Amino acid sequence: MSRVIVAGCGIAGLTAALRLSGRHTVTLVTKGRIGESNTEWAQGGIAGVIGPDDTVDSHIADTLTAGAGHCDPEAVRTLCEAGGDAIVSLAEAGVDFDTDPTGAWARGMEGAHSYPRIFHSGGDATGRAISTALAEKLRAEAAAGRVTLLEDTMLVDILTSENEHRPVRATGITVLRNGRMETLTADAVVLATGGAGQLFAHTTNPAAATGDGLAAAIRAGAEVADLEFFQFHPTALPGPGFLISEAVRGAGALLLDEQGRRFMYEVDDRAELASRDVVALALHRRQAAQDGRPCFLDARAIPNVEAKFPSITAGLAAHGLALSRDLIPVTPAAHYFMGGVATDRDGRTSVEGLFAIGEVACTGVHGANRLASNSLVEGAVFAARAVDAIDAQSTHTNDADLAFEDSVNHELPLPQFGSFHQTALTRTELQALTWAHLGVERTAVGLRTLLDRLGEGARNHRDHDSGSASNGARGEDRSTTPAVPSVKALETANLALIAEHMARHALAREHSLGAHTRTDTTLTSHT
Ligand code: SIN
Repeated sequence: MSRVIVAGCGIAGLTAALRLSGRHTVTLVTKGRIGESNTEWAQGGIAGVIGPDDTVDSHIADTLTAGAGHCDPEAVRTLCEAGGDAIVSLAEAGVDFDTDPTGAWARGMEGAHSYPRIFHSGGDATGRAISTALAEKLRAEAAAGRVTLLEDTMLVDILTSENEHRPVRATGITVLRNGRMETLTADAVVLATGGAGQLFAHTTNPAAATGDGLAAAIRAGAEVADLEFFQFHPTALPGPGFLISEAVRGAGALLLDEQGRRFMYEVDDRAELASRDVVALALHRRQAAQDGRPCFLDARAIPNVEAKFPSITAGLAAHGLALSRDLIPVTPAAHYFMGGVATDRDGRTSVEGLFAIGEVACTGVHGANRLASNSLVEGAVFAARAVDAIDAQSTHTNDADLAFEDSVNHELPLPQFGSFHQTALTRTELQALTWAHLGVERTAVGLRTLLDRLGEGARNHRDHDSGSASNGARGEDRSTTPAVPSVKALETANLALIAEHMARHALAREHSLGAHTRTDTTLTSHT
């Protein structure tokens, strides 16, 4: 038995906490309420091979091809072999997958899959169904005293023991809770904090997706990988970033330019069902050629389209649009971080006792461009494997030592916000800069401009700060230095740190690959 902290409550965090429950002393911390995560927003579905007519080898081949040759093939095999069982486990946990007229689970199609293998629930509310089922089970565990659930609790930093200034072992975390900083000690820390779509001015992600776990891991000295690869989803509603699932194109919707012409065939034989990097880049370029005016998604010919996609229908109705009646304006938006904290196939990071699962991790399964609907399944599969690894490293045997209260340690030093990567840029300024320079197309000049602006932001912050009282009075949007910073200030500092690391990775990769498009070099590795 060990004391384990799980940070984050998407599919990865919930799966890990549920599997650890009862066998370890488990504390789950989450910045918002349980279930509020990118998972809850996932529409299209979860990919996996179930049934004799599809094959694991085909799912592997599609994942490797979409990943532009940059995936770790062993990690992909692990994912695809375990995917079917992970979906069955979700059904056993209460997820009600949609069925076809024969009563079998319905399987949808999405871009770059060579076979329909996307399982869904509520038509287009798969993430919500998964999140609701797992969160309900976790609440029951918490009510039975087997898990401690800390909502409205933000992960701030990872505590490590050090040897010659190198992190050796994760020993706990610091959190911001009830307006106070606290430390929680643990034998294992599992990061499941999700992505960082809020880096960008246009994103499909919820407000909480600010890369807190990734930033904390960077500060703790954990290895990170592939930070230049951020996936842009081709079809978001301009403005609100509301996602219109790839499953709609899988069901037959077409992409049209402002003249009403279909253009994807000019770019790729797979047309609307090419891999996401290809479709997003093509849309971005067509939109630029139209002086920034968006292209359109035409789903009007899909029979019963609104019954098939009820959540999207409701979301569009709020903007006066109907899939069955209107051409829907669409634009690429930041969607999924392929890079993250580098892990092995059991979620282990370079810091002993620190695990990373789900979007915060870089397991190598997504390479330079994630295959559609491979993210939920990754969260489920690698959460289960990380739990097995924690079982294997379990240290404590005396249950009496392991009450949650004992893990709250007021003696340990709290992190000083002054040591964080603060910036004088507002959140909005930062998001506009990253969209301009780390967005769908990138150049060395743009990336250096971003790094300069981040550097200036940090300098301005120090100059300004040295002459001011540290009371946070300059507004929440900047990462100011109050005694206890606000959640928003910590988030902005985290985003600035990640933007800097991403820009350095993007500068170092001089050729285009997958979702990373450099327009200032002629080198390209697009598959
Ligand atoms: C979508 O439904 O298009 C998003 C699903 C995913 O990102 O895999």
